[in-house]
Amino acid sequence: MEDNQLYSLLDSMSLKEKIGQLIQLSGDFFSTANLSIGPVEKLGISPEFVKLAGSALNVVGFENVKHVQDKQMENQPHHIPMLFMSDVIYGYKTIFPIPLGFSSSWNPHLVEKAFECAADEASASGVQVAFAPMIDVVHDARWGRVLESLGEDPFLTSTFAKTMIKGLQNNLPDKKGLVACFKHFAAYGAVEGGREYNSVDLSLSNLFQNYLPPYKAAVDAGAKMAMTSLTTLNGIPSTADKWLLTDILRKRWGFDGTIISDYASIQEIIRHGFAEDNEDAAFKALNAGVDIDMKSPVYANGLEKLVTNGKLDIEKINDAVLRVLRLKNDLGLFENPYFGASSTREKTSLLTSRKRALSRRLAEESIVLLKNKNNALPLSTEENMVLIGPYADNHALNGMWAIHGSKTDTVSILQGIQKFVPNIPTEKGTDLRRDSSLLAGLGFLSEQEIKRMVSSEKENHHNLMQAIKISQKSDTIILTLGEETYEAGEAGSKTNLELPENQIHLINELSKLGKKIILIIIAGRPLALENVVDKVDAILYCWFPGSEGGNAIANLLFGCINPSGRLTMSFPRVSAQEPLYYNHLATGRPQDLAKGRFVSKYIDAPANPLYPFGYGLSYGSVNYLNLKIDKEVFSKDSTIHVTVKLINDSDFDTTEVVQLYIHDKVAEITQPVQRLIDFKKVELKHDQELTVHFNISSNQLTFFDNRGNEKLESGLFDIICGTNGKQHLTTTVRLK
Ligand code: GLC
Repeated sequence: MEDNQLYSLLDSMSLKEKIGQLIQLSGDFFSTANLSIGPVEKLGISPEFVKLAGSALNVVGFENVKHVQDKQMENQPHHIPMLFMSDVIYGYKTIFPIPLGFSSSWNPHLVEKAFECAADEASASGVQVAFAPMIDVVHDARWGRVLESLGEDPFLTSTFAKTMIKGLQNNLPDKKGLVACFKHFAAYGAVEGGREYNSVDLSLSNLFQNYLPPYKAAVDAGAKMAMTSLTTLNGIPSTADKWLLTDILRKRWGFDGTIISDYASIQEIIRHGFAEDNEDAAFKALNAGVDIDMKSPVYANGLEKLVTNGKLDIEKINDAVLRVLRLKNDLGLFENPYFGASSTREKTSLLTSRKRALSRRLAEESIVLLKNKNNALPLSTEENMVLIGPYADNHALNGMWAIHGSKTDTVSILQGIQKFVPNIPTEKGTDLRRDSSLLAGLGFLSEQEIKRMVSSEKENHHNLMQAIKISQKSDTIILTLGEETYEAGEAGSKTNLELPENQIHLINELSKLGKKIILIIIAGRPLALENVVDKVDAILYCWFPGSEGGNAIANLLFGCINPSGRLTMSFPRVSAQEPLYYNHLATGRPQDLAKGRFVSKYIDAPANPLYPFGYGLSYGSVNYLNLKIDKEVFSKDSTIHVTVKLINDSDFDTTEVVQLYIHDKVAEITQPVQRLIDFKKVELKHDQELTVHFNISSNQLTFFDNRGNEKLESGLFDIICGTNGKQHLTTTVRLK
């Protein structure tokens, strides 16, 4: 309908109808299947408001959506269509690598294509809004949701935020896209201690410089929705923070889309100690700028009284309702309440070979080669090899947030390798985890599943003996270990980032055989590998690689693809190093200042990462030389032209991620020892030389002060260019 018709619709709606548009409920309220990610509590919402609810959470599948939409519209006095929103975080049915994985591809364009794919599948299946991208910057690998983040760097996260949003929304005009709802605003990734749902406390310079840029990038990329964070920021729940949601997001950045709370987070501001009761919570959240109440009774049970008692201006509600109606109208739901969904599209668009090929390619570019001693990889199919480990013949490669995907659609590592070595002997060797109580505490596994997952002592010993037996007859052991799906993801915070004892025992026993060991890790976060790294010859870090994981891993193992993944998060040696990130401050006594006691270090472990941000190996290596800048001194309105020469003197064609960092050597707020400002992913044929060019302008050199103001100061800047955060060339330039 025409935009001005929305105003007359609004005028004709009752107060209850208006409030209904601001309520989002899950499928169980509409008596249809649904996936509940979060605490399931009886909500105490009247049937009247259930009938008036304006949007649904995680109701998917064309028939399901049609059933709920038809029933709701019939019951709505003005037959207003519902919005269907869902967690499509890294794929719908075709599952891509987890975001921490695909960020290691440093290929934003390919990720855009992946998100177009996800939007195509989900929109065919009735979804209209994706609760993605998750663009929280994370410095602490203990936090389980690092799985769905793009890692520790704000520039890289911002770059991916733009392409993920474009990928979701590009095909909205054809009704084959999804509305992007970026999250979690703001800075959820900075929870103290990496402990889930914990408090977030940041100086404004740290908040604006290291955590807010991706959300700003999302607004600039045209995201139509934003989701609040469950956490407090500097003592104020983000879901009720008017400064954050209205002054920064809407007024300073110009966001004119819809704001939805996170799951039950409006009611949780009571538990945070920021509101007395539902009425108080309703007032504070709506007044802060939250339009839709996801899965809590607060708006349903609190808003009406506030208006009738004159405590809340109806215009506040009208503004929120108008944003929701406008979003529905932009999608054309008043004319076609099913948007792009149909049973035909649903049948023909899911898990197509083209989509699988894209998932495989992104997985291949996401896997990071961490070690390759004596060129242990790539393997030859002539080698006498065995496949060992709990991930050998395991289809659970999707990760925790692939809630609409199915592991039955996933290619296992065994299946991938069998395409090269059809009869490879394989043994499990040990369980993923042997701690039944830990598995039960993950909250997703049934008693029966846990019984199947944890062998008896006798069985486990037998599995180990069998693994040793077949390995003794081989020359090469491919060993697949890692995290159980639900150890990472939401509410998956861990204090110990090492592999479980039983897996370490398996490595130790196999390493006694004197065979070549290729370690494949499946995980949703950086793990602390210092206690195993010397026991193996090569390490491929595969994240949760998604539907085509087995094929992607096999293609790298046998050299069809040259690994090009580069870490977007620092890897610790031991868990206690966390939080650990590359763009840290120098301190007055940097750890490499001098040998001895009085420097910034630990007495019982090195302070530097096992593998730094930006790190990753390829088959063959690229040499960097001749880093040059076209001027020693430049002004604020000019640019610096930077060149660096690359030589691929190996026998392999390769792909290199050339990383460009700066270090602002003196500023009124001390600046990180280095900060990523650009990168280029380039291909080099074997023996090829290539000169790579960058331009730097002064707006890439700004920083934020403790009032959240962006500043630029004259002075010296190091220009750092290399293959990762630690191996690079450096030169210096002065900004006048
Ligand atoms: C969860 C998550 C959020 C998700 C929402 C809906 O608690 O915090 O990322 O989109 O609820 O499932």
